[in-house]
Amino acid sequence: MSGLGFQVSMVDGNARRGQLTTAHGTAETPAFMAVGTAATVKGLTVEQVAASGTEIVLGNTYHLMLRPSAERIARLGGLHRFMNWHGPILTDSGGYQVMSLSALRKIDEKGVTFSSHIDGTKHALTPERAVEIQHLLDSNITMVLDECTPFPVEEDEAERSMERSMRWAARCKEAFTARDGYGLFGIVQGSVYPALREASAKALTAIGFDGYAIGGLAVGEGQELMLSTLEATVPFLPLDRPRYLMGVGKPSDLVAAVLRGVDMFDCVLPTRSGRTGQAFTHRGTLNIRNSRHQDDPRPLDQDCACPTCGNYSRAYLHHLFRNGEMLGPILLTGHNLHYYQSLMAGLRKAIEDREILAFADTFTRTQAEGDI
Ligand code: GUN
Ligand code: ZN
Repeated sequence: MSGLGFQVSMVDGNARRGQLTTAHGTAETPAFMAVGTAATVKGLTVEQVAASGTEIVLGNTYHLMLRPSAERIARLGGLHRFMNWHGPILTDSGGYQVMSLSALRKIDEKGVTFSSHIDGTKHALTPERAVEIQHLLDSNITMVLDECTPFPVEEDEAERSMERSMRWAARCKEAFTARDGYGLFGIVQGSVYPALREASAKALTAIGFDGYAIGGLAVGEGQELMLSTLEATVPFLPLDRPRYLMGVGKPSDLVAAVLRGVDMFDCVLPTRSGRTGQAFTHRGTLNIRNSRHQDDPRPLDQDCACPTCGNYSRAYLHHLFRNGEMLGPILLTGHNLHYYQSLMAGLRKAIEDREILAFADTFTRTQAEGDI
């Protein structure tokens, strides 16, 4: 019995239209989760996050365990109350962030020990502790502790790492307390090796999870290898459970992955790019710092219904960025997140109308036109 509801209401080819139900509400799928690493979607209030069309937010075990600590958030009533986001929350398990952010990492069968990137203090994360922390946070979707292999990696090393991640996944399942409206997701590893991906997907399915993530991708392998690895993985995942492609991606990655049967995504790209001046539009990307925008009275994206595009010109946004004004990153982040969510809404409607291939064609064509 699953603690999370997942209903597939329509399929078009391999693409799926569904609903994910948690104790804190429902997210329509395919879904893009806004990244709220440190209990904030950087630059936006939760009202702005919701207004962008975001229905589910991602938090990070690694950051929150270091500061302000899972125990403190639990005492304050859990992550939803702490950050005032009362919709669904998924938390990543920390394994990936330990590898990319911390110093003096040591990984063995028990788990991983590391020094904080904030103050150098020593910490440990085991499969059991990762599950406990996510329980303290009151996360709706707990992710298993895993090891994300770097790219490139030899097949025998990828195999050893994947097999340990599968043993950790079994320990997480053992440690997780099943309850209504909450769930635990396994994470498929195996780098870009189809046989390892198949073995990993089958191992996780045998343990049994509420959903299945595909990890270890978007780590430098490029879109073509990412998509072929996805195609080597998805057929071995259960049809009736959500699939989550971790840390992905560019708009074209989202479209291509939805076509291949992925239901959930997260990525820092819309929010991080918003802070550096890169905007996503229906006609590709632009950088608002470029001087060609300084006299331009038009909005960032003529086809965008967000508050930024409704109220502010490119010239004004350019001015804000050139002056280092904090409103610039705020307005661009709001637009980018709205753009991502309207892309997801378009994908969901296209699946309902069974026009996903036509949607993908139109998307690719208009992106290629470029900003004009
Ligand atoms: N975020 C992006 N990729 C990964 C991964 O492979 N594992 C985890 N836990 N998080 C990720
Ligand atoms: Zn906009």
